[in-house]
Amino acid sequence: MSLLRAATPEAWIAKARDLPHLLLIDHANCEKKAASTALALMFAYAEDLVLTDKMSRLAREELRHYEQVAKLIKGLGIRPRRLAPGRYAERMRRLVGSSEPQREVDLMICGAFIEARSCERFAVLAPAIGGPAGELFAGLHAAEARHFKVYLDLARRAADRAGITIEPRLQVFAKLEAELISGPDEVFRFHSGAPAGVPVGAISTPVRSSPS
Ligand SMILES: [Fe+2]
Ligand SMILES: [Fe+2]
Repeated sequence: MSLLRAATPEAWIAKARDLPHLLLIDHANCEKKAASTALALMFAYAEDLVLTDKMSRLAREELRHYEQVAKLIKGLGIRPRRLAPGRYAERMRRLVGSSEPQREVDLMICGAFIEARSCERFAVLAPAIGGPAGELFAGLHAAEARHFKVYLDLARRAADRAGITIEPRLQVFAKLEAELISGPDEVFRFHSGAPAGVPVGAISTPVRSSPS
């Protein structure tokens, strides 16, 4: 099952080819952020040992991904630097409800979309970038597909427990997510939208957010 309604625009892929160093620095940030989000969820839902176990494993895996990206950054002689995050995750998080039990369902849905988009981006980046970065992206693709499923399963579990129907919320997140990916974006990042000022190209690949 795919959650995503929009494929990565051609113009974004072209920008990624032009700015591979920036892409890798932001990718390293994404891996750190994915780990810290998983840790934050362990604190927020400390009473749920199923959730905390899954998030603990996820945080460790994301940190291993960070180490792989950091090794590549060093190997390629790229100078690391601080980078402000793009709009994507922050805008998605604005949809998260403020009170439970909706909040937990939304947080898990939000995680599922971010992981699904990472998965889709790795699939298009691997052949487009090539070289050692392309190899790394190809290797990370399957992991992100697993992570997407972990979050989606936790969302369904939280929703079932609370008697909430998940599908309408999936639609709400899917709509915003597609807008953020397809709409013009002034800032280029791993999860950014179509580069502003560049016409959005034809969709070159089917949307892939899971190996199925
Ligand atoms: Fe990762
Ligand atoms: Fe991930």
